[in-house]
Amino acid sequence: MSCMSWPTPLILLLVLLISSTLLLNSPSQNTFSKFFSTFNYSFTPKLEDPSSISNTTTLQAKLGTLEDGLARSRAAIRGAVIRHNYTSNKIEDFVPRGAVYRNAYAFHQSYIEMEKRFKVWTYGEGEPPVFHGGPEANIYAVEGHLISEMEDRRNPFRARRPDEAHVFLLPLSVVNIVEYVYKHRVVEDYWGPLRRLIADYIAVIASKHPYWNRTMGADHLIISCHDWAPYLSGADPDLYRNSIRAICNANTSEGFKPGKDVTLPEVHLPDGRLSNPARRRTSAAARTLLAFFAGGAHGYIREALLRHWKGKDPDIIVHERLPKDLDYGDLMSRARFCLCPSGYEVASPRIVEAIFHGCVPVIISVDYPPPFADVLDWSKFSVEIPVGRIGEMKEILGRISARRYAVLQGRVVQVQRHFVLNRPAKRFDVFHMVLHSVWLRRINLRLNF
Ligand SMILES: *[C@@H]1O[C@H](CO)[C@@H](O)[C@H](O)[C@H]1NC(C)=O
Ligand SMILES: *[C@@H]1O[C@H](CO)[C@@H](O)[C@H](O)[C@H]1NC(C)=O
Ligand SMILES: *[C@@H]1O[C@H](CO)[C@@H](O)[C@H](O)[C@H]1NC(C)=O
Ligand SMILES: *[C@@H]1O[C@H](CO)[C@@H](O)[C@H](O)[C@H]1NC(C)=O
Ligand SMILES: *[C@@H]1O[C@H](CO)[C@@H](O)[C@H](O)[C@H]1NC(C)=O
Repeated sequence: MSCMSWPTPLILLLVLLISSTLLLNSPSQNTFSKFFSTFNYSFTPKLEDPSSISNTTTLQAKLGTLEDGLARSRAAIRGAVIRHNYTSNKIEDFVPRGAVYRNAYAFHQSYIEMEKRFKVWTYGEGEPPVFHGGPEANIYAVEGHLISEMEDRRNPFRARRPDEAHVFLLPLSVVNIVEYVYKHRVVEDYWGPLRRLIADYIAVIASKHPYWNRTMGADHLIISCHDWAPYLSGADPDLYRNSIRAICNANTSEGFKPGKDVTLPEVHLPDGRLSNPARRRTSAAARTLLAFFAGGAHGYIREALLRHWKGKDPDIIVHERLPKDLDYGDLMSRARFCLCPSGYEVASPRIVEAIFHGCVPVIISVDYPPPFADVLDWSKFSVEIPVGRIGEMKEILGRISARRYAVLQGRVVQVQRHFVLNRPAKRFDVFHMVLHSVWLRRINLRLNF
């Protein structure tokens, strides 16, 4: 059949217009923006040449079905908020409730909807170690674990075919690109090879499959914990501008967009073994130390912290290097507050460490939206101290009453499950929370056709 014989409306239909239709433009806008508060995302990717978009009707029909399903999910979430209850066709083994959630009903229903429908396709192109895996130990461990969990056959969110996918993962590991491609000794153009590798990969994906061009990357995902991920993702302007970038270095001054991108929590696995919340729980009352921090003078925020507090006050234990006779975990268990200043980049592994030790995290950062902030209300279980007030820390923390502290501390224990890294993943753990963040961004994006 020749193209000419196609009825015009059909051709128009084929031209996928990606609109930034945040639900914010539809009548539902008020209900929706209330629970997912950081959603403020609007962009209009330019489709330069509509004829380059695949024009097979089956692809269109599939997309229509996917979008209908997402519309039903949005309606179910709205319904749950109005009725203050969830609907599920299975027994719910965990029901999120309480002040730690911005809207527990919205979150729970959204999670149920995600389990019902969400499918992620991982492109097969590329070879390990740079693709299809990543580091599974040390500070960037979350990158490797999440990339390989996505492709794990046991992962129920894995799409079996690309046309059933809502989101497409580009399985590249920035940590391994840096590890294997970066040359320390090269003085000139040392970023060049790294950026070209990423740009070439996307060019291959865009030429072999119809999906990238369809949305200019807006339903595509990268996962990286490396400090350089924001910069290297600029290798392709559409990747930077349109795609969902799940990154640890979520610095809004470096192009991180909270409604589009996803903050990954840094999970420090020094010896590669998965860590869990401390089994021995120290009660709020048994925590005798006011605050604790140990870490190098990386960056201006930590320098300020060390300058003000290192060796200054017996209630506030701040070390640049922890003496051998002191135990890091023990101090986190004895402290009421664990200080989590940004280092050379915004993310701090101490946030998850503090949460696992039942210690109330004190976030000292700038331009950093913490992980899962569209679901979790961090003000209910952490303390934020602006960099300019580091010197007043003792008064700020001292003003928090024993009663208020006990409430904060109880909630820290309550959110622990959302930061645990399991292989294979378990419901409501860190993998599923990251996936849920991605899902939220995808249901917020409507592909019109
Ligand atoms: C679109 O369909 C027409 C007619 O079937 C075909 O000639 C053309 O190559 C197709 N374009 C693409 C990009 O697939
Ligand atoms: C939403 O984005 C617009 C434009 O970027 C900005 O002016 C506005 O302040 C934002 N609103 C919120 C609530 O962040
Ligand atoms: C909420 O929904 C569940 C399952 O649909 C049901 O078992 C439960 O009774 C409901 N609770 C309330 C308070 O309506
Ligand atoms: C997507 O667009 C690029 C650049 O315009 C083009 O080279 C490529 O062939 C397109 N891909 C497909 C599958 O048509
Ligand atoms: C965030 O990015 C800005 C702009 O590059 C930079 O000046 C700032 O130091 C970064 N924040 C941290 C904590 O690294």
